[in-house]
Amino acid sequence: MATAYDAPPVPGAPSREEPVLETENLVKVYGRGASRFDALKGVTLQIGRGESVAVVGKSGSGKSTLMHLLALLDQPTAGVVAMDGRPVSQLKTREVSHLRNERFGFVFQQFFLNAGQTVLENTVLPLKIAGVGRAERTRRGMAVLERLELADKAKNRATDLSGGQKQRVCIARALVNEPTVLFADEPTGNLDSATSAAVEDILFGLHRDEGITLVVVTHDDDLAAKCGRRLEMQDGRIVSDERAATGTGVCP
Ligand SMILES: Nc1ncnc2c1ncn2[C@@H]1O[C@H](COP(=O)(O)OP(=O)(O)OP(=O)(O)O)[C@@H](O)[C@H]1O
Ligand SMILES: [Mg+2]
Repeated sequence: MATAYDAPPVPGAPSREEPVLETENLVKVYGRGASRFDALKGVTLQIGRGESVAVVGKSGSGKSTLMHLLALLDQPTAGVVAMDGRPVSQLKTREVSHLRNERFGFVFQQFFLNAGQTVLENTVLPLKIAGVGRAERTRRGMAVLERLELADKAKNRATDLSGGQKQRVCIARALVNEPTVLFADEPTGNLDSATSAAVEDILFGLHRDEGITLVVVTHDDDLAAKCGRRLEMQDGRIVSDERAATGTGVCP
């Protein structure tokens, strides 16, 4: 039987995006006894393929906790995270790692670059984990570094870079496996305004041109306003979920 879901799209109507990630009643408790802290108190949400979502809210409201659970970097105390409609708890640990490595890219405020390695080595780490051979790793690594205007730094040690360049190496590493979802936690938090603008251009360019789903935690209202959707967190709950007026979820 045909359902509303199968109906042809009405011209001009917001597209019904298929959720790439979903959560149901997600709970995260840190610690126990007197030091117990309920960081997420039942978060239910769906993130459509190709959406750009800003997660905002005060410090300590649970933004990073939610992002870590969505990115399968941590496990919930209770509730469900599903990817492509499949609950992640049904997958084996190895399948989860594989999914994360193949489908996700991460850009975090703390750079987590390996100090002893070159820019190229840091960039191709996800490919190494995926078992891609050296020649192919180098080819793909250099291609993404070129795109981020870092090719001339490929052989530098990752520590011998400016803050903005390090952030771009993190973006290069997040993109090298051509992820479908890019998670960014305060991607511009440490950067001056010019470098922030460059990083934003890269993120939203990927979103617009390649349909990457963006989930961005930010304190920056301007950055949040560029996203098609704004989720506000307060004390471990989503207190508002607004889409941009166009309803397309696509950034300008
Ligand atoms: N490993 C942990 N052990 C105990 N409590 C934690 C742990 N990680 C986070 N918390 C607590 O959970 C709450 C939510 O933390 P979270 O990092 O998600 O906040 P946030 O919204 O990202 O804040 P910020 O904007 O400061 O990054 C905070 O009160 C924090 O102290
Ligand atoms: Mg945080």
